[in-house]
Amino acid sequence: MTTENQYRRTLVTSALPYANGHIHLGHIAGAYLPADIYVRFKRQKGERVLYIGGSDEYGVPITLTALKEGVTPQDVIDRYHTANAAAFEKLGISYDIYGRTSWDLHNDTTQTFFKTLDAGGYIHQESMELWYSPKLEKFLPDRYVKGTCPKCGYTDANGDECESCGAQYAAQDLVAPRANIPGDDSSPVLRESRHWFLDLPKFSEALKAWLDMHPEWRANVKGIAYGWVNDLRSRCITRDTDWGVPIPVDDPDAKDKRIYVWFDAPIGYVTNTRQWGIDTHGDATAWEAWWKAKDTRLLHFIGKDNVPFHAVIFPAMLMGQGDYVLADHVVGNEYLNIFNRKTGQSEKGSKSRGNMISVKWALEKFAPDIIRYYLCTNAPESKDSDFDWDDFMLRYNGELCDVVGNFVHRSLTMTVKNFDSRVPEPGAFDAEDEAMLAAIPAQIDAIAEALENFRFRQALERFIDLGRKANVYFDTKAPWVSRKTDMERTATTLYVCCQIVNGLCHAMAPFLPNGAATLSTILGVTLPEGGPEGGEDGWNAGKQTLPAGSPLQTPTVLFPKIDPDYIAELAETHLRGEAS
Ligand code: MF3
Ligand code: ZN
Repeated sequence: MTTENQYRRTLVTSALPYANGHIHLGHIAGAYLPADIYVRFKRQKGERVLYIGGSDEYGVPITLTALKEGVTPQDVIDRYHTANAAAFEKLGISYDIYGRTSWDLHNDTTQTFFKTLDAGGYIHQESMELWYSPKLEKFLPDRYVKGTCPKCGYTDANGDECESCGAQYAAQDLVAPRANIPGDDSSPVLRESRHWFLDLPKFSEALKAWLDMHPEWRANVKGIAYGWVNDLRSRCITRDTDWGVPIPVDDPDAKDKRIYVWFDAPIGYVTNTRQWGIDTHGDATAWEAWWKAKDTRLLHFIGKDNVPFHAVIFPAMLMGQGDYVLADHVVGNEYLNIFNRKTGQSEKGSKSRGNMISVKWALEKFAPDIIRYYLCTNAPESKDSDFDWDDFMLRYNGELCDVVGNFVHRSLTMTVKNFDSRVPEPGAFDAEDEAMLAAIPAQIDAIAEALENFRFRQALERFIDLGRKANVYFDTKAPWVSRKTDMERTATTLYVCCQIVNGLCHAMAPFLPNGAATLSTILGVTLPEGGPEGGEDGWNAGKQTLPAGSPLQTPTVLFPKIDPDYIAELAETHLRGEAS
């Protein structure tokens, strides 16, 4: 439990998505948008923050895709790494680096982790019985073999775990195994294979002590983490495959095996930080302060399926290195389900159902701010939420357009028209003016407080609240009426409105970067970019006065309304499975 002020650096990571498909809106609402909003907020405050992302490029699902398509795994990861990097960029997910676990540098980082753990006595070998294809003369790791789950009877279970009931089991317990590779219809047989294991129980006390230091984490994350820590077993960290990081041991048996993707993937955060230091500073040691200095605050943003890896296994791997910081917060999110308007039911997003909405598709239909707005108002923070087209339109049109956009537009239009495109000189303030002026910093602080506590929905609600207060003020003061009789009163009202618009402009920047950029140009204010080196405080600048006489540009519509017919058409397209 810590206050952010004791830290000099904030290192933020978002789960590295598999380069095995297009990222979809469910991913964004969970692990990416909240992280990006947080990072943008910190940058704007002038704090030192570094945001790391990248593709997760190893693992069986990727080699299976390659086999099914008749291409190489490299082709698969190149295709989706490029596509996903572009989708993130277009949506404004503002990584400082978007790296790749297929980089050579990543072999080095991963192997160093492995060797240090090995030298510390945390890695041992075990022989185990695994499924083997006599026809291909190859072991069949993970999803290469399918069968019936020994626990629940699900017939499409994987070699070592069941997607349906979540059970994990030894290979020999799988019922009716069959190979899951094109071109292999043989029956797999059990064969002995030697593998490397991470001795997680050795970290059990240290992990517990660390978790106990963080009562402030979300209940869902703590529940999963304690569940694991109270029942730790050694975990196999190698696989029979040639697609992965080579195992750094002098042993002929290691030749046909690779490090397991779940061991190397989180180490990708470190690799990508190393590469960032080289790219931006030409400094191969710049990364170390971000991972090892005690005044670095490490934050992981993830979906709930990733909690065990970020709240138990990766921390153990970091402890085993000796000198790394541990996460101060693991921000784990629930799932964004899909509301099916035909059936009236909420359903899980799944590839086979074809009900997922890719970011790529969504960005062809909507401006990034629109997508960001809805996914933040509806983020699955403490429970699952539904993506629902009607809700999408109602929230965006009814809140962002009607409340904030409308206020900004009518305020600026009247000011530009009646006061020669300048912030007017105010007369004496009355009690309503004073109350409204006082509400701006209060509301900005309330938004900041919510963001500091990872309550992104609440932060955005407080932003819209400022817009609501502003509209009440505007309607009470009715400058379109006072304009006919009392220019000084009108000037005072619109002066106050310009102050609100300035506050809204600063406060919207983490959530709606494009809207904020446009508005800041209209207002002639600068929103500092900030970054890993820190900078000036452009967040609290939203509480400062926009001086009378400041020039204003003619406003444009920041948030155009969405047409209901357009939504209806897209909802149909989506239901036909064409949005993924
Ligand atoms: N690729 C994994 C997933 O999409 C996430 C990996 S997170 C990392 O679920 F930390 F391991 F990189
Ligand atoms: Zn099962």
